[in-house]
Amino acid sequence: MDVVCSGVVLLMILATAPVAIAVTESAVNLLEAEALLKSGWWEDSGATATTISAHCQWSGIICNDAGSVTELLLPGYGIHDSLTNFGVSSFPNLVRLDLSGNKLYGTIPHQIGALSKLTHLTLSNNFMEGFIPSSIANLTTLVILDLSYNSFSGRIPPTLGLLSNLDFLDLNSNYFSGVIPPALSNLTKLSRLYIHWNPAIRGVLPEEIGNLKSLLELDLSYNGISGSIPPTLGQLSNLYSLDLSTNHFSGTIPLALFNLTNLSRLDIHWNPAIGGFLSEEVRNLKSLVEVDFSGLNLSGALPSSLCGLTKLVSLSGAQNQMHGSIPSEIGILKNLKHLALGSNRLTGQIPPTLGNMTALVSLDLSSNQISGSIPLQLSVLPSLKFLDLSYNALEGELPCELVNKFGSESFVGNPDLHRHDPPYYIIGVGVTLLVFAITGGLVIYICCFKKVEVELMDNKHGDIFRIWNYDGNMAYADIIKATNDFDVGYCIGTGGYGSVYRAQLPSGKVVALKKLHRLEGENPNFDKSFRNEADMLSKIRHRNIVKLFGFCLHKRCMFLIYEYMDRGSLFCILRDETEAVELDWVKRVNLIKGIASALSYLHHDCDPPIIHRDVSSNNILLNSQLEATLSDFGTARILELDSSNQTVIAGTFGYMAPELAYTMVVTEKSDVYSFGIVVLETLFGEHPREFLSCISSQPNEPIMLKDLLDTRLPPPTNPLVVRNVVLATALALDCINANPKCRPTMQQVVNRFEESRRESTRPLHTIAVNQLVSPPVLSLPEQTCADGTSSLSTINEFHVDISATLPSSNFSIHVST
Ligand SMILES: *[C@@H]1O[C@H](CO)[C@@H](O)[C@H](O)[C@H]1NC(C)=O
Ligand SMILES: *[C@@H]1O[C@H](CO)[C@@H](O)[C@H](O)[C@H]1NC(C)=O
Ligand SMILES: *[C@@H]1O[C@H](CO)[C@@H](O)[C@H](O)[C@H]1NC(C)=O
Ligand SMILES: *[C@@H]1O[C@H](CO)[C@@H](O)[C@H](O)[C@H]1NC(C)=O
Ligand SMILES: *[C@@H]1O[C@H](CO)[C@@H](O)[C@H](O)[C@H]1NC(C)=O
Ligand SMILES: *[C@@H]1O[C@H](CO)[C@@H](O)[C@H](O)[C@H]1NC(C)=O
Repeated sequence: MDVVCSGVVLLMILATAPVAIAVTESAVNLLEAEALLKSGWWEDSGATATTISAHCQWSGIICNDAGSVTELLLPGYGIHDSLTNFGVSSFPNLVRLDLSGNKLYGTIPHQIGALSKLTHLTLSNNFMEGFIPSSIANLTTLVILDLSYNSFSGRIPPTLGLLSNLDFLDLNSNYFSGVIPPALSNLTKLSRLYIHWNPAIRGVLPEEIGNLKSLLELDLSYNGISGSIPPTLGQLSNLYSLDLSTNHFSGTIPLALFNLTNLSRLDIHWNPAIGGFLSEEVRNLKSLVEVDFSGLNLSGALPSSLCGLTKLVSLSGAQNQMHGSIPSEIGILKNLKHLALGSNRLTGQIPPTLGNMTALVSLDLSSNQISGSIPLQLSVLPSLKFLDLSYNALEGELPCELVNKFGSESFVGNPDLHRHDPPYYIIGVGVTLLVFAITGGLVIYICCFKKVEVELMDNKHGDIFRIWNYDGNMAYADIIKATNDFDVGYCIGTGGYGSVYRAQLPSGKVVALKKLHRLEGENPNFDKSFRNEADMLSKIRHRNIVKLFGFCLHKRCMFLIYEYMDRGSLFCILRDETEAVELDWVKRVNLIKGIASALSYLHHDCDPPIIHRDVSSNNILLNSQLEATLSDFGTARILELDSSNQTVIAGTFGYMAPELAYTMVVTEKSDVYSFGIVVLETLFGEHPREFLSCISSQPNEPIMLKDLLDTRLPPPTNPLVVRNVVLATALALDCINANPKCRPTMQQVVNRFEESRRESTRPLHTIAVNQLVSPPVLSLPEQTCADGTSSLSTINEFHVDISATLPSSNFSIHVST
């Protein structure tokens, strides 16, 4: 009986099991489909899924045979959402989750701990914040964990040490604080560990780090780590890249480090409290390609055993206290491209064997006490571009070839270095060649001597790097590092004048870098005007003008350092459905008032006045509070009141004042015109070209204002807001008057907003734009509308007559009642 019963039960299990599994599967699939649909991330994927697993076809989604999602790979997908809104726990079979390079904000949801099969979790390059949830310790199958380039904070949880399968852990560029937990040393499979750029991390490096025997790369740069460099690092025998730069390490460089024979890159620069000397044991690092020990406090001599590291491509030891001479064996380093030993106490001569280093691109021996003459061999090095021998004790003759090739600034600060003396040559030649020699002497004088006279005045390093209002820590090297040498991955926009990059500095501060295109940089006249302009802009302080922190002017690159505006341009916000709604009427009115105030400041409060020349929605940037600033002074030049202001036309099509089509004279009124277009665009949610062509073709047809306003927002009802919207429209129509003299000044625009506080307005649905247009200037001769006397719109004025020329098509609008 028992047996029979068991058999029946067994049969029943056999019969129902597949069904049960199928039911569970489809339930899971349903849950997944629901979570995916609800996210709205695939809006254009045809949300009307016909079959249960249709979502498996959507971009970035990979399913297993049962139709359950195993991979969500959406890097750079433009997702602007909080991960907490996404039903992440609905995907029990998820193996890979890559959401890098999106606009994710908010925290990592606790539910992430439910993804028990996850091996890859990549959330890098987003705007996420908060702590790493403790539930992450559940993800024991994780192999890759990448949280870099976010704003995560709090301590690095020691429970990460439980993720024993981890091979790759990247926490760089966040705000993690506290010490690096010794528990991480349990991650014995870890081959790459990046914790750089968490300037809030303090404390010492635990010696347990030496347990991470599988490590190939370790980057701890730009943290606040103090204490000594643990000798246990010498146990990481597989390591090929070690970066401990820009920390507060003290003590000496442990000898054990020189046991890392596989090391190809060693960077410990800028740890000013590391003293002692560089041991000859450095000879063991036979694989070394790049070594940087600049900015320490090393004394002693430069070890000659460095010259045995024949794979070296870059050798930097600047800014130390090293003395002695440069070993002549250095000429053996045939692969060396960069040699930087500036700002030490080196003596002796420049070894002529440097002439054997044919790969050399840059050589910096500046600010030492090197004596003797400059070996002529330097001038024949084929690749050498940047030579700096300034501020030494060099003597003898300065070869003209070297000055011509590298510029005289490379040699300043050597009082006993003589230039060619033209008379010397003249005396040395026969009488028959006298005339020829004089000519030659003159040429030498012009090419060499004169240039020196002028350029000796110049900056020591031939570059200018200026920063205002900044913690002194920002340096050229930081900028280069922050953008990986202006890597395209950090580029957030490109315009006519340059490309803009996002850079997070070691301090955690994010700045925008505008790197100017080469063309500008190569124009010699540009140099001076660039400096003037940057100087001028640095003095501007207005809450609606983007802050310029500094600039770098260098032979190789030029860039400006700006305040970073994280919401991007008005242009982009108006074209994004979600963001456009977020920018409600109150914010739009504030934006308009802010930009008006900024332009009024530039035109009327700056001396000399500044014309922006390229006011457009592209150049209005918003911060996280959606407050606007005017940016991009690429085209701005100081308006010299006595000059003609005739320059090449610059500006954005669709915003340029029509008179610029026939006159090259730029005045503030061209900015006023562009401002008017921007105001209409802000209120209408799109460029007003359609409205302008409409009102020109049917001038007598009343166009209701409420029909023009951005329909993505409910029409304004608050009387105060209505009044401001109506006034802004009326002022904008004044600003785009075809006759520049009839446009108001920006000061008048600002004043009108002020005065309007006491005025009332009619209900919005009764107002036609035709009624807002004033004053009557239909193709009237210019003198009827003198500067500064144009009558400004008031809300209750209803006489109508405008003439405006469209930037795009040059036809006139004639409106009359
Ligand atoms: C983590 O795992 C435990 C046990 O495996 C489980 O009870 C818990 O729900 C998991 N946490 C999350 C957030 O899923
Ligand atoms: C690290 O591993 C050891 C032994 O395997 C274990 O006792 C310890 O609890 C682990 N520590 C952490 C923080 O996981
Ligand atoms: C160095 O790297 C090679 C592979 O490139 C490896 O075979 C060797 O074991 C490594 N040496 C040490 C000391 O780990
Ligand atoms: C370097 O390694 C050798 C053997 O591999 C060992 O004997 C020596 O103690 C190590 N040196 C240091 C300073 O750790
Ligand atoms: C650098 O080393 C010298 C001794 O060589 C010492 O007097 C000085 O204080 C050190 N500087 C720093 C910043 O540690
Ligand atoms: C430099 O090259 C010359 C020949 O070109 C050779 O005689 C000399 O020994 C080399 N010196 C070094 C240090 O390599």
